[in-house]
Amino acid sequence: IKPKPTIFMIFGGTGDLAERKLIPALYNLFLENYMHKEFAIVGLGRTDYNDSSFIKNLLAGVNKFSRSGKADKEKWAEFSSRITYLRTDVNNEGDYLKMQSIIEKHEAEWSEKPAIIHYLAVAPNFFPIIASNLAKLDSASDCLRTRIVIEKPFGHDLESAKELNNLLSSIFAEKQIYRIDHYLGKETVQNMLAFRFANALFEPIWNRNFIEHVQISVTEDIGVEDRGGYYDGSGALRDMVQNHILQVLCLVAMEPPVNFDAEEIRNRKVDVLRAMRKFGTEELRNNTVRGQYSEGWVKGEKVAGYREEEGVNKDSNTETFAAMKFFIDNWRWQNVPFYVRTGKRIHQKSSIISIQFKDVPHLIFPSQSSESWQQNRLIISIQPEMSIRLQVQAKRPGVDMILNPVDMVFNYDGTYENDSPEAYETLLLDAMKGDQTLFMRGDQVETAWDLIMPVLESWESKKSISFPNYSADSWGPETAEALIAKDGFHWFTLP
Ligand code: BG6
Repeated sequence: IKPKPTIFMIFGGTGDLAERKLIPALYNLFLENYMHKEFAIVGLGRTDYNDSSFIKNLLAGVNKFSRSGKADKEKWAEFSSRITYLRTDVNNEGDYLKMQSIIEKHEAEWSEKPAIIHYLAVAPNFFPIIASNLAKLDSASDCLRTRIVIEKPFGHDLESAKELNNLLSSIFAEKQIYRIDHYLGKETVQNMLAFRFANALFEPIWNRNFIEHVQISVTEDIGVEDRGGYYDGSGALRDMVQNHILQVLCLVAMEPPVNFDAEEIRNRKVDVLRAMRKFGTEELRNNTVRGQYSEGWVKGEKVAGYREEEGVNKDSNTETFAAMKFFIDNWRWQNVPFYVRTGKRIHQKSSIISIQFKDVPHLIFPSQSSESWQQNRLIISIQPEMSIRLQVQAKRPGVDMILNPVDMVFNYDGTYENDSPEAYETLLLDAMKGDQTLFMRGDQVETAWDLIMPVLESWESKKSISFPNYSADSWGPETAEALIAKDGFHWFTLP
C-alpha cells in the first residue's frame, strides 16, 4: 500500500528529534519514492523562524544525520519546497486555527483529502494542552484521516499513563493514536516475526520443552549525554525496560498470530505482558539488580560519573543500569527464565536476544572430545551488527573426534546490498499508511507499567543502595553477573 496525500504537522519542529530523525527519515522516504506526490510538512515551534531559515536548519540536520549522506541539491530543493514553518504557541487557540486553514488549503488543492498526522515531538507535559486544542479542530474527529503520533515517555508510572490514555481516548479513537517505540521499527526486531512465523523449523521447539532460558541485553557505551535533566527523573527501568525491552520480549514470547493484522498481533503481544509473573517481595530481592556508573576511562578518555553529569542531582539514586529475571506464567513458558539487562556506559554497545536451548539428553562422546561444549543457541543481534546466528556443535577437522561450537550465520551485510531503512522511516511510512502493527496500543503500555510498578516503587523507596556501583566501560555491577550466574548461566556477548 502506498500512502495517500499527507500533511505532517510536527510539534517540536525545531527540536532535536525533528532534526536528527524525523526530517532525515521523511527525506529518505521521498528519495525512495515512498511519499505520495502530494505531501506537506509543517514545522511548528516557538522559535522565530521563517520558512527559509527553518529549512536551512533542517538541511544541516539531513547532511549530518541522514543515512543517505549529504543531501542532493535538486532532490532537496524539490523535497523542501513542501516544507513550511508556523510559529506556534501551543496554548494559543488562534494558532490551531492557522493549522486548520493550512489543512483546508491543501484539501482544496489536492486530488483527494489528505491524511493529517500530528506528530508530537515535544516534552510530555505539552501532550494534554496540544491534544485538547487539537480536539477543537473539525479534522480531529475524522478517524480515517487524522492521526496523532506520540513519543515516549507514555506516562511516568501506571497512574499517569492511564491519565494520558484517558485524555487521548476522550479526543481520539485508539485507531488514530500512534505510540512510537522506535525499537519496533528496527529491521532485526521486525524480523523476529518473519523468523518465527515464516519458518516451519523453529516454532515446534519454541517452548519450555526445548528452550532453557532467554536473554535480552541492550547495552550502550554512551552516558546520558545532554539528557541528564530528563534521565535523572526517569532511569533505566522507565527509559528502556518498560518500553523497548518488554516490546522485544513480547515478540520473542508471543503465541502465533492468526494473521498479520495489527490488532491480532497486538493482542498476542499484550497476552504475554498479562501472563508475566508479578514481582513480590522475594522476586524483588532475588530477581532484580540496579546500578549507576561512576567515572572511568573510555577509549583512553576520562569520562564523568553519572552524578557529575550535567542536569543530574549530585546524590542521585537514579539507576543507569537495570537487570532482572522475568517469568511468563503460561503453558509455553512455564519456568523458563527471561533475563533482561540494559545500561549506559557499558563496555560495548549492543542489543542482543539470545535463546539458549536445553542440552542433549545423552552425550555419546567422551568428555575429552567435547571440552568446549556449548548448548545450541540462537542469537539475534539487533545492533550494531544485524545478524541471526545459530550456534551448533560440529566436528573440528582432524583425525580425532573433537567437537567445538560453530555459528551458522545470516548477516544482513553479506546478504543484502541495500541499506536497511532507519526505524523512523519504517514507522513514519506506516503512520502515513495507517498501519498500527508496529505501534504500541494503550493497553500494552498500561500492562507494561503495571508489571514494573513494584520494582519502581521498591527502588524509589529504598534509597540506601550504595551508588555508584559500576565503573564506566565495565559490564555493569557485579550483582548483575550474580543474578544470572546463580542459575548456572552467564550473559552472552558477541566477540
Ligand atoms: C531511547 C532512550 O528511547 O533509546 C535512550 O531514551 C537510548 O536513552 C535510546 O539511548 C537507545 O536507542 P538505540 O536505537 O540507540 O538503541
